[in-house]
Amino acid sequence: MDNDISRRTFAHVAGLGALSLAIPRGATAETEEPAPASPGRTFPKGFLWGTATASYQVEGAVNEDGRGPSIWDTFSHTPGKTVNGATGDVADDHYHRYKQDIQLMKALGVKGYRFSIAWPRVFPQGSGEPNPKGLDFYNRLVDELLANGIQPFATLYHWDLPQALQDDGGGWESRNTAEAFGRYAGYVAQHLSDRVKHFFTTNEFGAFVELGYGIGIHAPGLKLPPARFNQTRHHAVLGHGLAVQAIRANAKPGIQVGIAENMAICCPVIETPEHISAAERATRELNAQYMTVIQEGRYTDAYLERTGADAPKFTPADLKVISSPLDFVGINIYTATWIRADDSKLGFAVVPNPASYPHMLSPWLTIGPEALYWGPRNVAKLWKAKTIYITENGCSSSDVPAADGKVYDTDRVMYLRNYLTQLQRATADGVPVKGYFCWSLMDNFEWADGYTNRFGLHYVDYQTQTRTPKLSADFYRETIRRNGVG
Ligand code: NOJ
Repeated sequence: MDNDISRRTFAHVAGLGALSLAIPRGATAETEEPAPASPGRTFPKGFLWGTATASYQVEGAVNEDGRGPSIWDTFSHTPGKTVNGATGDVADDHYHRYKQDIQLMKALGVKGYRFSIAWPRVFPQGSGEPNPKGLDFYNRLVDELLANGIQPFATLYHWDLPQALQDDGGGWESRNTAEAFGRYAGYVAQHLSDRVKHFFTTNEFGAFVELGYGIGIHAPGLKLPPARFNQTRHHAVLGHGLAVQAIRANAKPGIQVGIAENMAICCPVIETPEHISAAERATRELNAQYMTVIQEGRYTDAYLERTGADAPKFTPADLKVISSPLDFVGINIYTATWIRADDSKLGFAVVPNPASYPHMLSPWLTIGPEALYWGPRNVAKLWKAKTIYITENGCSSSDVPAADGKVYDTDRVMYLRNYLTQLQRATADGVPVKGYFCWSLMDNFEWADGYTNRFGLHYVDYQTQTRTPKLSADFYRETIRRNGVG
């Protein structure tokens, strides 16, 4: 066995030697012009490259400047809820280090930063009196981004619900939370829309409702019975619609409003017409409770049939609010759901991944680059979306610094290169994707997984708060420089 390994290692090194001999004298990699992207691998001119983070995952400073507690403070401080009892108390200390972090973005060459606003900083009790000091942080952040040529893309809800709203009426289970969300969104739009031109209402219903109120592995840690759970789903999309309306009513002219949703990305198992149309049908049905009702203003018949007596209670007026027109659709894409045609009533079947299916460090993060092709393509085709952003994409990796201090995350580079190749294919086919936000700028608090699963382009040493670009940061910088897959 040992012999076998050393033979292979030798062959590998010998191969490298042969390669270096092939470089002509005087034309070392350092002296050559950087390679352009090959024709056919470039993105449209003006394509927006960005990175993303979220308040509770990076900010820290949970007790500063009047911030109220959120459901994630409560949940992460409850023993046994996060790996190693991790909390976001300090996280990346972005609240104090945002200027330095903006320099990391600048060095990458990104032109967009997607961040989220912590509702309990702005309204510590969720509703009622605003806290101007809380909003001031975002004023400082936005000013610093603009001064560095980076456009701010603000998400209003990335899961840190004010605890007071959970205590009073059960958070998203209550219609009051949806209404309070609308008021908070309007207030933020009124104060930031002179400089922030893109707002996302919510991030990933598919996570905060399903995991938080359905299976209880995220805050607030509930497992509601089906009827109450479906009503919670309904109140969440209603909150989105109320926020869209409040943003439009309170913002300066010229802003754009959208969503960032982790819909099920339905990809045909084989690219034949029958499987392609099955994947389109599946896109509507598997996203019926969130994206489809937002886009179409109705729950699909199959969803209502499936939920039966436990279906949500709603009015036609609710559906109108929920389907308030959007300026763009943001999709968070990590994995593919493989779909095949079949002759069932719905006309499709989900093909489960076999046990040997490859994934990144997080077991749920199965590899399916084609999701970056079929996701936006199906959204554009089904709902005539004219502007699509990939609001998150990225992966976890084991990320151990090498002797020279660098993290050589070749697995993340492999992941990004393959996914971006499929995104480029989408833009080349005319799918209107206007930008891409890599998750994440830097390692951060990965919810229930604590600090064990790193997703950053920059490695964070949590003892010293040092940020070090990984190999994937170099790859992303080169991608941006070429405006093409490298
Ligand atoms: C999606 C979520 O929006 C983000 O908060 C999370 O860290 C990434 N997925 C990775 O799991």
